[in-house]
Amino acid sequence: MSDTDEILAVKNIFKVFGPNPDMAMQMLRNGADKNEIFSKTGHVVGVFDASFSVKRGEIFVIMGLSGSGKSTMVRLFNRLIEPTSGSIHLNGKEITGLSDKDLLDVRRREMAMVFQSFALMPHMSVLENTAFGLEISGVAEKERHARASEALRQVGLGAHEHSYPHQLSGGMQQRVGLARALANDPTILLMDEAFSALDPLIRHEMQGELIRLQAEQQRTIIFISHDIEEAIRIGHRIAIMEGGRVVQIGTPQELINQPANDYVRTFFKGFDSSRVLKAGDVARLDPGIVCKLNGKAPQFKTGNDYGYLIDEHGHLLGVVDTDASGVPAPERYRLHEQQPVYTDTPLHEVLGIVARLPYPVPVLDRGGAFKGTISKTLLLQTLSRD
Ligand SMILES: Nc1ncnc2c1ncn2[C@@H]1O[C@H](COP(=O)(O)OP(=O)(O)O)[C@@H](O)[C@H]1O
Ligand SMILES: [Mg+2]
Repeated sequence: MSDTDEILAVKNIFKVFGPNPDMAMQMLRNGADKNEIFSKTGHVVGVFDASFSVKRGEIFVIMGLSGSGKSTMVRLFNRLIEPTSGSIHLNGKEITGLSDKDLLDVRRREMAMVFQSFALMPHMSVLENTAFGLEISGVAEKERHARASEALRQVGLGAHEHSYPHQLSGGMQQRVGLARALANDPTILLMDEAFSALDPLIRHEMQGELIRLQAEQQRTIIFISHDIEEAIRIGHRIAIMEGGRVVQIGTPQELINQPANDYVRTFFKGFDSSRVLKAGDVARLDPGIVCKLNGKAPQFKTGNDYGYLIDEHGHLLGVVDTDASGVPAPERYRLHEQQPVYTDTPLHEVLGIVARLPYPVPVLDRGGAFKGTISKTLLLQTLSRD
């Protein structure tokens, strides 16, 4: 990753709550853990030695159980609270240790926060509510109304500018919250469980809306969630927090394929991973079943019923019985009967093919190169992991 990809960099951040955080920090440095600190001193370790960076234009989800430190982390980002130790850089500039005035600027211009619930002013129109943050920042009325109007259009509330909050459903009110944040045109949009209070259907709709908005604007979004379905649906990458620590960061596929510990694994219990995984995440390449066709009878490792013939470019020619002798003629290849499966084909589209074919399904990259196979056994192992 180049430096320009990186918009927010967090380095060795600790946050200890209590009257004497330095003493608790000293104990942490000497190897004490969160529980010991709490039982001996009553201090709460909210965030423990977090280091990671967020890339420009990604939706970065922070996920974890209640109390794992997610909200503390976002409050550290917009500096509502001070880290006990460590540094945070925004666009290469350290924001830990800024003067109060600079800090105010960062909060106003760079970060906008959307909460789970926030108070709309009942006597203000939707437009005025949306423009409210800009008004506080001293933006002139004409400009703030233009920006608020545009933000309302973006969240699908263009027709409701002149409505009042009591005329809106809960989902629409949450959209106003999103519009208020967008009107600031922030460098980073912070969303702390912003959809958690919504009905499932509305919540799903808002997630879709956020995905669409992000794709349009390439805005950097840090989204807090305790819901794995939500995290996987919207997150390009997900950081998993456990007891104040960031225990793993990865794409949904990476977390499902290589969970760092049981805590991470537990989130995916009962989760239908075929919706997230791609054929390429699952396929295995066993060199013993592949042979480059060169005019001679192919040699395969014994013990397999089927072998895969490739050409000199690594492209798949066909599948043959390994016990057949001689040079197989193309009419004996077995590929013509099926749709090719590519590394980026969603796994749930491959289930039927794997079930139907007598041999492990070959997986190709988009250039046609043979990347491996998915057998029935491998598929079942993948899907029944929990
Ligand atoms: N202001 C505070 N004072 C003392 N403890 C706090 C404070 N804020 C958060 N905590 C504690 O820090 C831990 C992490 O809390 P939080 O970041 O709110 O978790 P999450 O958002 O993941 O539910 C919890 O144990 C919580 O009780
Ligand atoms: Mg929280």
